[in-house]
Amino acid sequence: MDTVSNAVHYIFLGAAACFVLGLHLMNHPRTARRGNTLSAAAMAVAIGATVWLVADQGRISSTGWVVLVCGGLVGATLGLWAAREVRMTAMPQLVSLFNAVGGGAAALIAVNDLLQADDPAALGARVSLPGALDIVIGAVTFSGSLVAAGKLQGIVSGAPVTFPGARLLNVLLPASFAVGTVWLVLAPDSRAAVYGLGAVALLFGVTMVLPIGGADMPVVIALLNAFTGSAVAMAGFVLDETALIIAGMLVSSSGGILTKLMADAMNRSIANVVVGGFGTGDSVPAASGAGEVVAQVRSLSADDVAIQLAYAGKVVFVPGYGLAAAQAQHELGALAELLTAHGVNVSYAVHPVAGRMPGHMNVLLAEANVPYTQLKEMDEANAEFAQADVALVVGANDVTNPMARRPGNAISGMPILDVDKAKSVVVIKRSMGQGYAGIDNELYTDPKTGMFFTDAKKGLAELKAAVGEFVG
Ligand code: TAP
Repeated sequence: MDTVSNAVHYIFLGAAACFVLGLHLMNHPRTARRGNTLSAAAMAVAIGATVWLVADQGRISSTGWVVLVCGGLVGATLGLWAAREVRMTAMPQLVSLFNAVGGGAAALIAVNDLLQADDPAALGARVSLPGALDIVIGAVTFSGSLVAAGKLQGIVSGAPVTFPGARLLNVLLPASFAVGTVWLVLAPDSRAAVYGLGAVALLFGVTMVLPIGGADMPVVIALLNAFTGSAVAMAGFVLDETALIIAGMLVSSSGGILTKLMADAMNRSIANVVVGGFGTGDSVPAASGAGEVVAQVRSLSADDVAIQLAYAGKVVFVPGYGLAAAQAQHELGALAELLTAHGVNVSYAVHPVAGRMPGHMNVLLAEANVPYTQLKEMDEANAEFAQADVALVVGANDVTNPMARRPGNAISGMPILDVDKAKSVVVIKRSMGQGYAGIDNELYTDPKTGMFFTDAKKGLAELKAAVGEFVG
């Protein structure tokens, strides 16, 4: 190995170590930004080292340089623009598009390597096998992620889309991957095998994601993210690039763990999500005051709630999807600040699947500059509810529903925030409308619960004004 190759391999090793350290720093909100910067810087250095290596070995033509520089500029500009401009609620779609790009690029690497090899027929299984897997996983991720992004953006129907024979197709297509892979390993110079495998995998990405309801898309996106990592790792095997293998496996394993955590927090198996057909995620607000359940609920005004808050010693806020939908995080932060200044002990109970994407509540509360010390994860928060004078639920529904403790309903077994253990409960939402799981919430008919029927943003602003008058 010459000096440049040697140096580049040490750089790759350093970059891989930084990726691991970066992931570790992302464990806590206080260090997450540093972790992100460290990993991004390591990736920039690894890209620079790769360019240095291929330039030193003269493996790049003058046209290649033009393509490389223009591609890099266009990609970096689009990435930077998207990261700055896209609204926080549209992040899942953006992540899905990034997955599509990653998976598609990884698949193209294998296609290029197999088709452009000096002597394709002589390629051993060491290249053709990861090449075939790369094409399959990368192409499934590409088309599946585009459909997932389309569902979240409302371009493709959020409802489960099924057609006669869909389930059979979703068994036959993966079976054909095994046939195509064996074919490619036995005949690595077969263009038909490369194109056939790619086409079937693209089709499967679409037929796999179409029957899944829009509300399950965050879990699907985490799964496709894990796929992207696996495809990139396979591309690393094809190119014999250690850095790519390590980076790909890190993405794959962290995406896999995230998928499992999300599915567990929803008390569903990953297979159950992928089989699909559960919910669209769009709750339909029911008219407040109508129906039998509504007759039993206690309706509160802003002043009623403000008195409770102003005289409380400890208040726990429980944010949910409605907070994100109303974009009411700043109003919530301002109310909490006012109460803290008045000497009330304030904290936020964060459920792992509150909202519609991993870390949704953490991101919103960070936007509102809520102190990290006030954020409590589920177990810690549950230990505190019994001491809380008021639990103020803002647009959260399923994650507070005591029905989860009983068998036989859509959320049975899902860990919940024990809001009903607080001395008094106030729920801010617009109506008696159901949440993502599509079931009524027993919390609302609990005698200690009062309902403040309003949009979260408007209601919290009214509450702040009313509390302000009480505390003077
Ligand atoms: P949900 O159970 O979905 O309930 C949200 C509530 O917010 C609705 O009942 C709605 O009631 C209310 N709301 C909507 N817009 C509002 C507004 N402008 N102002 C005030 N309230 C508003 O939310 P959750 O408790 O956060 O639970 C999340 C659910 O999503 C769980 O079932 C979870 O399994 C699922 N899920 C989560 C994820 C991730 S990763 N977070 C991924 C997929 C699925 P009204 O219509 O009456 O206002």
